[in-house]
Amino acid sequence: MYDFTQDMESILLDEEALHSVISELAARINHDYGDSQKPLVAIPVLKGAVFFATALLEKLTLPLEIEFVSASSYRAATESGELTISALPQRNDWDKIDVLVIEDIVDTGNTLSAMVAQLKKLGANVRVAALLDKPSRRKVDFHADYIGREIPNAFVVGFGLDYAEKYRNLPYVGILRREVYESSKD
Ligand code: XMP
Ligand code: MG
Repeated sequence: MYDFTQDMESILLDEEALHSVISELAARINHDYGDSQKPLVAIPVLKGAVFFATALLEKLTLPLEIEFVSASSYRAATESGELTISALPQRNDWDKIDVLVIEDIVDTGNTLSAMVAQLKKLGANVRVAALLDKPSRRKVDFHADYIGREIPNAFVVGFGLDYAEKYRNLPYVGILRREVYESSKD
């Protein structure tokens, strides 16, 4: 059995903390969308947001649809690379729906500001929920509507977040020890 905690400098959000952070976000979202007359479409950003989205969406007491979009800027590394966003879902009702984009983490803000701009251009009413936010890393002016937890500038993994595609399945969010990614650089 592999002991993942040996790769962690510390645990930022354990299962209990994740549960309470996500429950609070869900309560706010249930409240804010409760009176909306528009259909709600939740759009988790693959792959990182899958765990967060599942936990959040099962706590929403609203009728909603789910679509997926994928984005990647980290290529087997801990520094932002080139940004790619997959095609948005094919729909002809963007101007009639509320869209809730669900993301794991806001870092430079590039991914979400690009995605939100595309959705707004299609006429959607867009809000963003992100589990984590690293405000100190921001390169563009971007604010998510719902933020679970602000975190310091450290590379985190778990609960959907990866380093080189690993660690996504951890049930907690932890700071990855520097030695883990520095030793695999070459
Ligand atoms: P930007 O810079 O566009 O990036 O806001 C957001 C995306 O970058 C990834 N990201 C991380 N992934 N640990 C990760 O596993 C981190 O600490 C981290 N910081 C940013 C993530 O994919 C997010 O969607
Ligand atoms: Mg991501």
